[in-house]
Parts: sequence; C-alpha cells; structure tokens
Amino acid sequence: MYTGFPTSLLTMLRCLRDGGALELEAGTPVHDGRVQRGNLRCHACHVLYPVEDGIVKLLDPSALDQESQHEQALRDQPSAGDNTSWEQLPWSRMEVEPTLAALQPLAGSIVMELGCGGGRYTVLMADQAAAVMAVDFSHAALKKLGTRVASHWNIGLVQADCTRLGLAERAFDRILSTLVSNLPSPAHRYAMFRLAADALAPSGRFVFSTHHYTLANRFRRVPQAGRYHDGGIFCYLFRRRELCEETQKYFCGVQCRPIQISVPFADRLGLPLVALSRAAESFPLVDQLGQLLLVTATDPCETTAYEHA
Ligand SMILES: C[S@@+](CC[C@H](N)C(=O)[O-])C[C@H]1O[C@@H](n2cnc3c(N)ncnc32)[C@H](O)[C@@H]1O
Ligand SMILES: [Zn+2]
Repeated sequence: MYTGFPTSLLTMLRCLRDGGALELEAGTPVHDGRVQRGNLRCHACHVLYPVEDGIVKLLDPSALDQESQHEQALRDQPSAGDNTSWEQLPWSRMEVEPTLAALQPLAGSIVMELGCGGGRYTVLMADQAAAVMAVDFSHAALKKLGTRVASHWNIGLVQADCTRLGLAERAFDRILSTLVSNLPSPAHRYAMFRLAADALAPSGRFVFSTHHYTLANRFRRVPQAGRYHDGGIFCYLFRRRELCEETQKYFCGVQCRPIQISVPFADRLGLPLVALSRAAESFPLVDQLGQLLLVTATDPCETTAYEHA
C-alpha cells in the first residue's frame, strides 16, 4: 500500500509557472520520509501545490484541451481499470516484455513513467529501480496504482498533464510512456518530447510505444487518426518513418521497431504467442505485422526549432 510521496523525490519536481524548486510548506506532516497530505510551496513565486492521498497535484485542469478532458473523465470513472488480470494475457505480454527489455538495466536507476495508468508497467519497474516517479492526469488511476505499491518501493505519484509538467533537468535515467498515440495533436507530442528530452540524464533512455499504421490498416484504408470503440478516446496510428521524424526533432539517437506481432494462425494452432511474437521481432517483413511501434530515444538535442507554442 502506498504510504505517501517520498520527500527525497521532491527535488525532481518544479513549479508549473516558473520552474522554481518545490519545498514542503512549514507544518506539513512527514512520516517515515513520506507526505500523505499537505502542500508544496514554490521557492520562487510561493504558489502552493496540494498533496492528497500522497499524490502531488501538479495538474491545472483548466489548461487541458477538450480531447484530454474527455479522456481524463473516462479514466477517472470509478470502475475504470479495476481488473488487472488482462495484464497477463498474451497480447499484453507481447508488448510488455520487449518494452521492459528496452529499459534494462533498471537496477539502481531513477525512472519516470508518463501516463502510468493503473500501473501495469510501474509495478514491474518499481521492483527493480532505485526510484520511480509515476505520472498520470487521472487521480483514480493513481489511487488504483497506490493499492498495488509494496512498502519497500521508492515511488512517488504525481497527478499532472504530461505535456505540461515541472521537472528537474537531467534527473531521470529512464523515461517510459505508452500514451503517445493518445495525445491529440503533434503539438502535444512535441511538448511531451521536449519535456522528456530536458528531464533525461545525458546517458539516459526514453522508451515509448505507439499504435502502428500496419499494411493491413493501409490496405483497408483505415484513417490514421481515430478513436477507440470503447469510450471514444483519441488514438493515432503511426507510420514508422513519421514517428522517427517527430522523435528526431528532440533526440539524436532514435531506434524504432514493430512489436506485438501476431503470427497468422498461431492462435488457432495453439502455438506459444508471446515467444513467437518475440522471435518475429527479428525478422524483417514479418515484423511489419506488429501492432505497436517501440521507440528507444537517446542523446537529447540541446535545442530545437520545433518548440511547442
Ligand atoms: C494507454 S493508457 C496506459 C497506461 C499504462 N501505462 C499501461 O501501459 O498499461 C494511457 C494513460 O495515460 C494517461 N494520460 C493520457 N493523456 C495524458 C496526459 N496528457 N497527461 C497525463 N496522463 C495522460 C491516461 O489517464 C491513461 O492512464
Ligand atoms: Zn513558482
């Protein structure tokens, strides 16, 4: 069970207005180095940010666009994400295993997850990493994740918009995100990439996945911008080249490859789906069947001409 935000992780957060350092407001109770309830104060402008249920609230809901408000409302529904048994299904493991492998080694590293949801990845990383900062704009998702936290993990929960988040520069060895396809515009993606590039340690790694605009999608003339059937959350299907081009505006090192590959008829023949998917990742052409693209971005660029307005 999550017992509060570790005070040792406060140095990684910054004020949304001016990037000032955040410190505990005088009188805020701290137990075993963790804060459950109280306020953080910006050292520069003195604005207060609340801590509730151990979750640091850096979200300005009025700054969210309509698409993001729609998604946040759905993710905040009381029953959303209660069941975690789907995390063990083959199609989930076909995604999680290569993604976690791209993040290794995690031992001793400081990790941030942007869009952690109910914690499918967070709980696996927190067991290995030195510290994890888990960010999501859904309070309900963060509370759900809180119920899965082991007492010895060094983990801090933050409610924030991942396109507008105050972070210390070069503070994280690993950054993970599986939400890039859900960001409603290139401007949102660029804002998040800028933020990740600035927050990543010089030898760090930013790993993220998106939905893939597969040959089958192209053949069926599925539009690249669409919505999930369930709830209508925005979702963009990426061509590999366009995803690389967007990422290269912020990172000098970019690798991108398909994952979550369903080999035809494997299911009906009762073959091991996860092992087959992992093996198929190494075969050109077969890998084009992958439903997701996995990006590993390194070497943040110092400056870019594509700043978010
Ligand atoms: C596709 S789910 C992924 C959850 C988890 N990482 C996983 O892979 O199981 C996307 C998550 O990102 C969050 N999210 C979407 N847009 C966001 C934004 N702009 N800022 C912060 N969180 C966001 C949603 O609330 C949701 O929990
Ligand atoms: Zn400030």
